[in-house]
Amino acid sequence: MNSPDFLSVAGEAAREAGALLLQYLAKNVDVEYKGAFNIVTAADRAVEDLVVGKIRSHFPSHSIVAEEGSNLDQGSEYVWHIDPLDGTTNFAHSNPTFCCSIGLEKNGEGVVGVVYDPNRDEFFAAEAGSGAYLNNKRLRASSIDKIENGLFATGFPPTNRLDNPNVHFFHHFSVMTHGCRRTGSAAIDICSVAAGRLEGFWEIGLKSWDVSGGAVVLQEAGGRVTDMDGGRYDSGDQHVLCTNGLVHDEMIAFFGKIRSGDVGLEIPSL
Ligand code: IPD
Ligand code: CA
Ligand code: CA
Repeated sequence: MNSPDFLSVAGEAAREAGALLLQYLAKNVDVEYKGAFNIVTAADRAVEDLVVGKIRSHFPSHSIVAEEGSNLDQGSEYVWHIDPLDGTTNFAHSNPTFCCSIGLEKNGEGVVGVVYDPNRDEFFAAEAGSGAYLNNKRLRASSIDKIENGLFATGFPPTNRLDNPNVHFFHHFSVMTHGCRRTGSAAIDICSVAAGRLEGFWEIGLKSWDVSGGAVVLQEAGGRVTDMDGGRYDSGDQHVLCTNGLVHDEMIAFFGKIRSGDVGLEIPSL
């Protein structure tokens, strides 16, 4: 089995997932809670069953890591990282920013990534060494090389909220750049960097299924993925930084300044 088959199976799974997500969206499904603010719906589970079923039927010896628990550790060098619905909170509020994200890694290196946004009918796909595409059009990250001229995004996981320092980074990027978005779908954010719609994205506390698919797309679009200190990022590490490559080092330096309190911004009165 060669990698083009991986890409077509992943793509078919993501497109079917997207169609099923839209069916569930039209039904206004009930919200359940995995934690205080950590939402899950019947759509997350049904789409995970669909995607995992398809991957298993084609690649029965591969391992699987999937958000809603359909994990399968077969000790394989191939591991699929599946987020059936990235943007569940948006979905639960009928906010149309969500997607299905699928990444395949071989011995920890990204091989294939697909992210499908069914509301915009945007299909991001990449295979290591073969470029990244949005609906069959080649993707290139942007050429903006200064953070003051850039647009950024970040996110906030639904768990351990009070332990997360990210609001400080969010604040400083919001006031020192063209702006900082919080869309609610990490996979769409990473693909937005690949598409030149954002210069950078970072988050603290993501899981492998949030990042794995988008990371292949971004790297194949000429972007860069590391942790927020500039070290190697392995899927599931505590923090991730995804950029067009050109603003990467300046972002890391700015994170350092923010962490040391060396930014000279005071909180104004109301
Ligand atoms: C969430 C989204 C969100 C990010 C959260 C993730 P989910 O994934 O990607 O943008 O900020 O950290 O948990 O729960 O909707 O699959
Ligand atoms: Ca997710
Ligand atoms: Ca999810």
